Amino acid sequence: MFLHRPPKLKQHFTVVFLFLFLSYLITNATSTTTTPTQQFKEAPQFYNSPDCPSIDHDDQDPPDPESESDGDDQPNIFCSDHAVHVAMTLDTAYIRGSMAAILSVLQHSSCPQNTAFHFVASASANASFLRSTISSSFPYLNFRVYNFDDSSVSRLISTSIRSALDCPLNYARSYLANILPLCVRRVVYLDSDLVLVDDIAKLAATPLGDSSVLAAPEYCNANFTSYFTPTFWSNPSLSLTFADRKPCYFNTGVMVIDLDRWREGEYTTRIEEWMELQKRMRIYELGSLPPFLLVFAGKIVPVDHRWNQHGLGGDNFRGLCRDLHPGPVSLLHWSGKGKPWARLDANRPCPLDALWAPYDLLQTPFALDS
Ligand SMILES: *[C@@H]1O[C@H](CO)[C@@H](O)[C@H](O)[C@H]1NC(C)=O
Ligand SMILES: *[C@@H]1O[C@H](CO)[C@@H](O)[C@H](O)[C@H]1NC(C)=O
Repeated sequence: MFLHRPPKLKQHFTVVFLFLFLSYLITNATSTTTTPTQQFKEAPQFYNSPDCPSIDHDDQDPPDPESESDGDDQPNIFCSDHAVHVAMTLDTAYIRGSMAAILSVLQHSSCPQNTAFHFVASASANASFLRSTISSSFPYLNFRVYNFDDSSVSRLISTSIRSALDCPLNYARSYLANILPLCVRRVVYLDSDLVLVDDIAKLAATPLGDSSVLAAPEYCNANFTSYFTPTFWSNPSLSLTFADRKPCYFNTGVMVIDLDRWREGEYTTRIEEWMELQKRMRIYELGSLPPFLLVFAGKIVPVDHRWNQHGLGGDNFRGLCRDLHPGPVSLLHWSGKGKPWARLDANRPCPLDALWAPYDLLQTPFALDS
């Protein structure tokens, strides 16, 4: 039918299209220098299944009579032990990844309304921009944005091989116990370059035993020696830190953390002490990971590998595509140099990037389905 459109009309369409295209180019050209141009679609609303625990308003504190009228507001979800608490960092560079991760969490959760998101943003970031970006795509999301004073950690960071790893926000995961309110006792920390394809409540419910602080998938076949320098291993007073345990590599992009135990054991300080040492003598190469390994390797509760199918970003040096590890998959993690959104935009995706794409909320220009 469109093929038989009268030529005049067709011409008209071409002109309108050209005009739209030009104005798009002009708007983009003028705005890239000032504000990020990414526009995101609104995600659907997700509802609890009937057997989800109900989180009432007066869960923790007696209800404030003033705010009682605000019927559908649930401030106490941010303190509730019945909620699944998720912590992620938020910045403009990775926000497209964060949005996909949030969507994936909600979509596969049987109690999405019982999920509370705690976003940590750099104190120098435009928090109101981040907040409004999140709420326009997720109008029903329970979330808070916290400021992370990255200047305090900047002085502790020594340069590592990949400059992205030196971003202070990368170290925010070591400070969650201080940043999040005291009433949050357990949190699932997630990187921004991953998607879940399973219910996060299962991961969050990982038993931590009598004394463990942290649970994560661990990989005992990885060469643990290679994460630290010969300087470290040849110094007995340092390497003895691993003497009474069998340390294994774990990825810090997916962790279940008992914040009460973290606070009690002052683990942030312990991590900082290793970072102080690293500034004086090179004991490792990578960024935020080795201090975690120094403090926790061999002491964590191992989680099934399905919860962190990592490395999908490809290798750090050549960006080669990676395949899944054998076994079931609950979480796909594009750790490594390449990110699925960048490869999709460049029209050079890795095969598994197709599994990330359905969670992409980026509004493509000219998309008429908004
Ligand atoms: C922060 O973002 C808001 C939009 O949410 C914008 O109006 C404001 O100008 C931004 N502030 C700065 C300092 O960039
Ligand atoms: C592990 O890594 C270290 C240092 O990178 C190396 O010397 C050692 O040969 C490696 N071991 C194995 C079993 O590959």
